[in-house]
Amino acid sequence: MTLLEKINHVRDQFNTDLERISDLKSWEELKNTYLGRKGLVSKLFSRIGDVPPQERKTIGQALNSLKNELQNQVDSLLQTLQEKVDESHNVDYTLPGFPIFKGSRHPLTQAIDEMLSIFARLGFDIAYGPEVETDWYNFSSLNLPLNHPARDMQDTFYVDEGIMLRTHTSPVQTRYMTQHKPPVRIVAPGRVYRNEAISARSYCMFHQIEGLYVDKNVTFADLRGTLELFCKMYFGSDARIKFRTSYFPFTEPSAEVDVSCFLCNGKGCRVCKNTGWLEILGCGMVDPNVFKAVGYDPEEVSGYAFGLGVDRSVMQKLDIPDIRMLFDNDVEFLKQF
Ligand code: PHE
Repeated sequence: MTLLEKINHVRDQFNTDLERISDLKSWEELKNTYLGRKGLVSKLFSRIGDVPPQERKTIGQALNSLKNELQNQVDSLLQTLQEKVDESHNVDYTLPGFPIFKGSRHPLTQAIDEMLSIFARLGFDIAYGPEVETDWYNFSSLNLPLNHPARDMQDTFYVDEGIMLRTHTSPVQTRYMTQHKPPVRIVAPGRVYRNEAISARSYCMFHQIEGLYVDKNVTFADLRGTLELFCKMYFGSDARIKFRTSYFPFTEPSAEVDVSCFLCNGKGCRVCKNTGWLEILGCGMVDPNVFKAVGYDPEEVSGYAFGLGVDRSVMQKLDIPDIRMLFDNDVEFLKQF
C-alpha cells in the first residue's frame, strides 16, 4: 500500500468509526486514536521522510487536508453531542426561573407583636400564664366563687374537676400578683377557649391581651388615657374610643370599650354594621376582692385591668370577614399578609 492509499484508507476507517460515536467518552477515544500525539494521522506524517522528494509535495498536501478534515469532523461532532446532552436534561436556559415564596408570620402573630410593642413603649412588661388553668386562678381568685352565676358568662371546657382551658387571660393577673409585689404593670397575651357555637364571628379558641396596672393612686383616668393612646397608636391617629358601662366580677366599676370604625371613621358601614363603632375590650378598676385574694392591701393600692380581643381587632383592621379564616391555615390566604 502506498502512502497515498494509506491516507485514503485512514479516512475511510475514520468515517466508519465516526458513525458509531454516540457519547462524549467514545468521542474522546476517536479523537485520540486519529488526532492524538501518537495517533494514526501523526504516524502517517512521520513516514513522509520515506517518500521520494518529487512526491512529497502532493503527499504533504494530502496529509494536511486529511488532518484538517478529521479535525473539523471531530469538532462538529462534539457540538452535536453537547446539544444532545442539554436536550436530554431538558434545559432551556432562556426560560424565566421559578419564583421562591418566602414564608410570612401569621397575621395574628404580627398583630400581637405590634400591640405588645406599643404597650412596651408605654412601660408594660410582658407576662405569660398556662392555657390549662385551675379553678382558683380562672375563677375564684377573680371574685367568682363557686356557684357564682357569672361563671356561666363563659362556657368552659373542663379538662378535669377543677381544671379547665382558661376562658380568658385574666388568671394571669392573679398569678402574676401572687408572685410579685406592687407596683406591677404587665400585658399578657395568649390563647383562650370557650365552648361557643362556631360562626363567622366566634370560634372556640381566640386570643386576648390582658393588661394590669397596680400602684398607689391608679385611677380610671389613667385607664382611659392609656387605652386612648393605645388605640391611636394601633388603629391610627383618627381613632376615638367610647366607654360603655358593663359588668365583670373582677372589676368595679367595669366598662366595655368601642373604637371608632377604622373603615368609615365612625360614619357607619358594612364592617361596623352601620354603628360606626367596634367593640374591642372589657376593662375596669380591679375589684378589692381580687387584691385580697393575692395578698395585696386594697387600702394601699389601686389598679386597672383590661382584656383586649385580638382576633376581632385584627379582622377589623385587615377586613377579614370570617374568624375561621385565621385558623384554616390556608397558605393562599395567609400569603397576603
Ligand atoms: N376577662 C374579661 C373577658 O374575657 C375581660 C376583662 C379583662 C374585663 C380585664 C375586665 C378586666 O371578657
